[in-house]
Amino acid sequence: MATVYLAEDLRHPRQVAVKVLRPDLAAALGGDRFLREIEISARLEHPHVLTLIDSGQADGILYYVMPYVEGESLRARVEREGALPVDDAVRILKEVVDALAYAHSKSIVHRDIKPDNVLLSGRHAEVTDFGVAKALSEAAHESDAITSTGMALGTPSYMAPEQAAAEPNVDHRADIYAVGVMAYELLAGRPPFSGATAQQVLAAHMTEVPDPLDKHRSNLPPGLAECVARCLEKNPADRWQSAEELLRRLETVATALLLVGAIRVTSGASPVAQAGRPAGRRGGRHRRSHPRLSALPGAQIRSRPPAATRGGRGTGRVGAAAGGAGAVSEGSVFVR
Ligand SMILES: Nc1ncnc2c1ncn2[C@@H]1O[C@H](COP(=O)(O)OP(=O)(O)OP(=O)(O)O)[C@@H](O)[C@H]1O
Ligand SMILES: [Mg+2]
Repeated sequence: MATVYLAEDLRHPRQVAVKVLRPDLAAALGGDRFLREIEISARLEHPHVLTLIDSGQADGILYYVMPYVEGESLRARVEREGALPVDDAVRILKEVVDALAYAHSKSIVHRDIKPDNVLLSGRHAEVTDFGVAKALSEAAHESDAITSTGMALGTPSYMAPEQAAAEPNVDHRADIYAVGVMAYELLAGRPPFSGATAQQVLAAHMTEVPDPLDKHRSNLPPGLAECVARCLEKNPADRWQSAEELLRRLETVATALLLVGAIRVTSGASPVAQAGRPAGRRGGRHRRSHPRLSALPGAQIRSRPPAATRGGRGTGRVGAAAGGAGAVSEGSVFVR
């Protein structure tokens, strides 16, 4: 579809990336339409959206200029490492979904979310190519010339069923589906759907139910597999209805990861012996005294701080049990 060049900005000495559309595609697309879409995307200013520096047409060649990201694409990282550490994957997903929530609030849908369009700069992710897929798909509806260039519209592996079926009213929930595909791939090290041909992959998106994520990746934090599965629902009405809603869930999962990471697991005593109090009372009392812990899905506080620290500064050390771990932890939460 395009070639990306590393270039030197002569006016402000710095490196930039120039994306140049294939000439046959540019001719079929028409410069005006493309530049109009790109202009809309140029209004996006967000820490996780790669800004547009400039765009234009020269000798029939359509191009746009972006900051050069010294780093790699998420695709390159996944190809090198396979499945990512869970906390890295969740952090990257949160940043991508944050960018989408912002773009959606401005009525801009990406339509081609995939690891190739997420660039990693230091510890952060930046989403690129906003507006490009929309310009292409709208042009394709109007003109046979686009499809006859032999270009695939969108990327089959990340296409929501409604995109695969070429439905006319694809909305922001197609981006949420693509995030689900990407999340699955980052966590499982393999995509949810595969096939020998693009048609087989598209058919799988429309008809097959993916393996549960935890079949391919154990020890996921509570709620993460369900969160991804909900992104991947066939019917947009069954998915997370907004990127904002999805972001809130990912933030809860990230909190869970932080807390579970803070628990130092020791072996030995029984969780129940530690608790020593009726569950209902325990849960209520300690949930109130640990508001941050209450954010952890499936978490229940099993014992309270030593009397010396109650009401004082900090929470003190709290005995707790990690569910399924068969061990007592020194931390604060019980994960069912
Ligand atoms: N701003 C940038 N800074 C640094 N590298 C970039 C930048 N933009 C793109 N690249 C690199 O160029 C590669 C090609 O990008 P390009 O957008 O043309 O292809 P793609 O994302 O694989 O597919 P698509 O054409 O569907 O977007 C990217 O994978 C990335 O490695
Ligand atoms: Mg791209």
